[in-house]
Amino acid sequence: MCGIMGYIGNGNAVPVIIDGLSKLEYRGYDSAGIAIYKPSQEKKQQPLLVDQKGEPETSGSAIIEYEDAYIEIIKKKGRLTEMIEVLGEFPTTSLAIGHTRWATHGVPSDANAHPHTDCSGRIALVHNGIIENYAGLRKQLILEGHDFVSETDTEVMVHLIEKYYNGSLEEAVRKALTYVHGSFAIVVICADEPDKIIAAKKASPMIVGLGEGETFLASDIPAIIGKTKRVYIIEDDEFVVIKSDSVVITDFEGNPIAKEIFEVTWDVEAAEKGGYEHFMLKEIHEQPTALRETLRGNIKNNMIDLSDLGIDDIFTDVEKIYIVACGTAYHAGLVGRTVLEKLARISVETDIASEFRYRDILWNPHSVMMVISQSGETADTLAVLREAKRNGIKVLAVTNVVGSSVAREADRVIYTHAGPEIAVASTKAYSTQLLVMYLLGLHLARVRGTCSPQELAELAEEITHIDELVEQVLTEEDKIKKLAEKYQGVQDTFFLGRGLDYAVAMEGALKLKEISYIHAEAYAAGELKHGPLALIDEGVPVLALITQDNLVEKTMSNIKEVKARGAVVVAICKENLQEACQECDEQILLPNVNPILAPMVSVVPLQIFSYYMAIFRGADVDKPRNLAKSVTVE
Ligand code: G6P
Repeated sequence: MCGIMGYIGNGNAVPVIIDGLSKLEYRGYDSAGIAIYKPSQEKKQQPLLVDQKGEPETSGSAIIEYEDAYIEIIKKKGRLTEMIEVLGEFPTTSLAIGHTRWATHGVPSDANAHPHTDCSGRIALVHNGIIENYAGLRKQLILEGHDFVSETDTEVMVHLIEKYYNGSLEEAVRKALTYVHGSFAIVVICADEPDKIIAAKKASPMIVGLGEGETFLASDIPAIIGKTKRVYIIEDDEFVVIKSDSVVITDFEGNPIAKEIFEVTWDVEAAEKGGYEHFMLKEIHEQPTALRETLRGNIKNNMIDLSDLGIDDIFTDVEKIYIVACGTAYHAGLVGRTVLEKLARISVETDIASEFRYRDILWNPHSVMMVISQSGETADTLAVLREAKRNGIKVLAVTNVVGSSVAREADRVIYTHAGPEIAVASTKAYSTQLLVMYLLGLHLARVRGTCSPQELAELAEEITHIDELVEQVLTEEDKIKKLAEKYQGVQDTFFLGRGLDYAVAMEGALKLKEISYIHAEAYAAGELKHGPLALIDEGVPVLALITQDNLVEKTMSNIKEVKARGAVVVAICKENLQEACQECDEQILLPNVNPILAPMVSVVPLQIFSYYMAIFRGADVDKPRNLAKSVTVE
């Protein structure tokens, strides 16, 4: 969601802001804007004295007048490139802030785009999050004479700052913050104090990058990785004053906070496309490497062993595990439920974070809350984490982003080590989340003695080679591309499966709908005849996942039901089940793998299929409409 970028220093701020915003595009947005500090300038003068020919005389003196410093705002609905077009030639300045907006309050429009300014236009602000009590504040400020020009919740914040501005931007922002509720990362500049940027954070991500004679502010590391690897990760309720050569971090009241510099370990190439046309395709192909990274260090004596991660103590008397997440991470949690129950024999409940947080949970005191989040910043997931902690439940976070909110607030963390994932549609983050589910399942099974050593060793052996199996599936890309070409014109699709295949079907359907905008529904194959079968018609593609040896016959019965009603069935099946799937119209074959591990390979063709469906339909694969990578509001 909204991306924030700020710069102050001895370089030129504008290209830095534009570059940073382009790196944050992945977060999802619908408009973009920049506030540029324009220093005081000599006004253009008519020469006081001219000779008879109208030429300026060299003698005589002019009174030099200066134009006041001011802040220029350029903002535009649509893509960043459209804003850049309006901006034209980049002006030179030491101070600027920029924003990509993902609309919550007010439609995407030029007026609602950030930055917003106060009535005088001398204070400019960008915001990520939601000011929940904005309606009352807005009413009050209008009564007091403030002019509002947008429908956003954000605009109240800058007028509040104006209200309290008395020569100190810092004091005015602090005062304004005492009146707002909600989630925010705000960044503010003032034409009268061009030596600083003020920022504050509550529940929306923000980092500060430290350069030589220059300082950066951003929503996420990719925005600044090309400039510096030394960052401060700003936490909730922190207030920051940055100058070109200093950063002062306090709480909202002004009490100093000491903070360690976080050194980013990955480099700029990791956040760039590296020859691929889209981040999504690159990330699909990075899966074998990502899986190797996730596995690294977790095999000892041919067994999965996570003892180095320091998580064992929270599982000593565990009776129940809650797995809570959103989107693709939730789908990984569904696989996690089956895996943990089967291998470690622990009862698991998996739920969607936005639902779980408003349920009246009967907490089992001997439980562990496992939250899964690629970004580690998803608002609903974070809320569940906090609710679990308030109830005395230990929290294990599975996340990809080191230093993210989820990672910092959980009691224990397992990192997925997928590397930066930029495409909105999650691929390598999902497969590494799955791998963590298997690693945890096998580790706990070993510690709890719920699987035989032979079974554990066999699964560990297969997991060690799972990257190769994924590589093998990736070689099917051309065949899957052709399928996508063939079906690119369809309106509706169904994804069927039983057990783990159903969990993967859900992920496959999500991938297809989010990037190709084709209606895609995932159904438990056995449930189909309780309703959705009515939707099956001549030529409707049904993608059937067939990897669970013990369920093949059952699933095939359901496939016959859809075929009898005219559906075209594409089977994604393991080689050893090919015979049983003969009746399907098309087959994508997967390597033979233990059924419990099948999701690791069966999801890959679905990712590739979605990618090419989106390509053939001309959709913006990496930045699908209306969606955001990091969902920092409820
Ligand atoms: C958004 C993203 C999805 C992601 C979900 C949860 O919807 O587009 O790809 O699965 O958020 O995000 P998280 O960062 O918590 O895994």
